[in-house]
Amino acid sequence: MKIMVVGGGGREHAIIKKISKNPKVTEIYALPGNAGMTEAKCVAIGAKDIDAITNFAVENAIDFAVVAPDDPLVLGAVDALEANGIACFGPNKDAAIIEGSKVFSKHLMKKYGIPTAAYEVFDDMEAALAYLENAPLPTVIKADGLALGKGVVIAETKEAAKNAVHSMMEDKIFGESGSHIVIEEFLTGPEVSVLAFTDGKTMIPMVSSMDHKRALDGDQGLNTGGMGTVAPNPYYTEEIAKVCMDTIFLPTMAAMNQEGRTFKGCLYFGLMLTPDGPKVIEYNCRFGDPETQVVLPLLESDLLEIMQHIAKGTLAEAQVVFSKKSACCVIMASDGYPGKYETGFPITLPENKDGIIIAGAKKGENGELVTGGGRVLGVVEVADTLQEAIDRAYETVKTVSFANAYYRKDIGKRALAAEV
Ligand code: AMP
Ligand code: GLY
Repeated sequence: MKIMVVGGGGREHAIIKKISKNPKVTEIYALPGNAGMTEAKCVAIGAKDIDAITNFAVENAIDFAVVAPDDPLVLGAVDALEANGIACFGPNKDAAIIEGSKVFSKHLMKKYGIPTAAYEVFDDMEAALAYLENAPLPTVIKADGLALGKGVVIAETKEAAKNAVHSMMEDKIFGESGSHIVIEEFLTGPEVSVLAFTDGKTMIPMVSSMDHKRALDGDQGLNTGGMGTVAPNPYYTEEIAKVCMDTIFLPTMAAMNQEGRTFKGCLYFGLMLTPDGPKVIEYNCRFGDPETQVVLPLLESDLLEIMQHIAKGTLAEAQVVFSKKSACCVIMASDGYPGKYETGFPITLPENKDGIIIAGAKKGENGELVTGGGRVLGVVEVADTLQEAIDRAYETVKTVSFANAYYRKDIGKRALAAEV
């Protein structure tokens, strides 16, 4: 089978590694992929170039396509591929709006009684500023559309909140994403990521995980795309999982069906376990990054088969089994990320690259692997206990080197504290 994976980061590398284990797979193409993906052939087509992606799939008689990043999903890549007879994993454009528009997802949750932070939507700046005069602090301000995960501001003061509204609605720092904004209640509690397989009829949550979004140890510094993950998330007990299934996961699937926007693919629930119970912080229409890097190594079943079942609407027949082990991913980034950083430094890797997930690398002048992004790679280890997985991941980190490498030293620390 010829497989095509759209995207080029760590999440895509983790997906490719897993799919490559299926004995029927003969070739995997990554569009655009990155130079560290040795299991795939990289094709220089950008993940947002829907026409070129579709043409490539047709010309190369691709048997199955996986569209992993948010942008092409929201732009309708799956619709375009399916219209050309290519079987696909990922939601259609109509359903990807659950991530593509925060206004849509907030209205959906309100309409169907799915627990989330109380909110107001504004498309007029003066009205938003007037509302902030008496809004409780901290206040959470979100741009409506995709903003590379940066469209959320948690304002501690009225002034900061107003500045955020100005920069989103007037200065348009997130482009048209900021034409509509959501101002919502600040929630507290541990955060949990739950990725779920769904075909609109069946919902199968994967093992839970915990992201570490801030750049620096102790959850300090700027928000990043994610500096590390652990799975499972010890805060997410079986009891909480049941509550989430009944009050969030199944109601969301039913709500999307009711709206005529059946969601098939991986639905990501960003949850906060508040004192009033679990609430949705955000939905994503895709696998999370770097959650995927710890969740997929714990999947004992065949990923490609599950994806094919979802595409056919027969997820109920799929075998989906997760191991009881734990996983830890430590992201090694270019120093300076998420701000300015330099790239082009040679990367030295250990001999055994099973747990090395490359996120941002390119070929240097002599064909060697060099750094090529903010997040360069993830080091993933699986073990019987979380403590062991963390220890092993940090041991493996020592065997990787590149100039200007930066990584957090405390991935999993909060999770370990929760275990006791
Ligand atoms: P998002 O881009 O929606 O994932 O938001 C980024 C981060 O902002 C989340 O992971 C939370 O830590 C935080 N956040 C978003 N919404 C809220 C909220 N209503 N209350 C508290 N924290 C929030
Ligand atoms: N790790 C969060 C995300 O993928 O959006």
